[in-house]
Amino acid sequence: MKIIKVLLIILTIPLSIQNVAADYNAGQEKSQVCAGCHGADGNSQITMYPRLAGQHRDYLVYALEGYRSGDRKNAIMSGFAKGLSDQDIQDLSEYYSMQKGLKTLPKK
Ligand code: HEC
Repeated sequence: MKIIKVLLIILTIPLSIQNVAADYNAGQEKSQVCAGCHGADGNSQITMYPRLAGQHRDYLVYALEGYRSGDRKNAIMSGFAKGLSDQDIQDLSEYYSMQKGLKTLPKK
């Protein structure tokens, strides 16, 4: 019986991870709310709004979770992040991380 329980737990771990698997297309749709500031593909042309395009996926997740929990404080972003689910954060981060964007500038 114990072995069966252990096996069940091991077998369900990948399923629980998959529950928050990122969905690129959903991320694109959800990003419409963010486009006003961060640009349609995350390449904001306004310097007060950071570029999200091409940023590391893990960093975007970390930043959004920070705003949502209050660990990272910003009046504007906290408001937007509060309404995001774990799934939203995964989807949005997937979408922005796959856009052409952030790159190293050549040395002057
Ligand atoms: C009203 C303008 C506005 C909207 C809309 C907005 N943001 Fe932001 N966002 C900002 C500003 C300003 C910052 C910089 C905040 C700071 O200094 O921490 C920021 C920062 C961020 C960061 C951190 C970037 C970094 O390099 O650390 C992420 C990630 C982010 N926004 C994602 C989103 C997502 C996803 C949405 C849509 C759900 C969104 N934002 C909607 C204004 C906005």
